[in-house]
Amino acid sequence: MPPHTAILFVCLGNICRSPLAEAAFRAHLQAASLALEVDSAGTGDWHIGKPPDHRAQAVALRHGVDISGYRARQVQRADFARYSHIVAMDHSNLAALQALKPEGARAELSLLLDHLDARRGEAVADPYFGDARGFEITWQDVWAGTAALLQRLTQVSA
Ligand code: 4NP
Repeated sequence: MPPHTAILFVCLGNICRSPLAEAAFRAHLQAASLALEVDSAGTGDWHIGKPPDHRAQAVALRHGVDISGYRARQVQRADFARYSHIVAMDHSNLAALQALKPEGARAELSLLLDHLDARRGEAVADPYFGDARGFEITWQDVWAGTAALLQRLTQVSA
């Protein structure tokens, strides 16, 4: 893996999709006995300092991960220098990141599902206004997407 590989997952509120992506990626890292800098953030500022949505906490716990200690934060311009990969959940998040990215910053921007061949160009749907079933779909999407991302990152170093 290239030196200083660091991954930031981004959605709108940082209380549903990107915390779940962070949790899934951390689980994959742990299973592979790898350590990388990982975080998540939102493009919006409404939920700064808040824990993940209770439905996101519940689905993570059902899959064996406790995210109750996570706290929402907003993406900052400094993130584009700190993180080598900034991974957006949907096209709107990606557009917001492209607009915020300082000229020449190192971060490579992508959609999470771009890393999964069969889902390239697709968004992780926003579950916020839906019911609990939507959060299970989110978990399945971020689980598969982050597994593919880690595989890609580890292959780069091979
Ligand atoms: P997230 O979900 O971007 O996956 O964290 C949302 C959270 C909050 C809102 C929208 C989406 N909101 O409108 O407050």
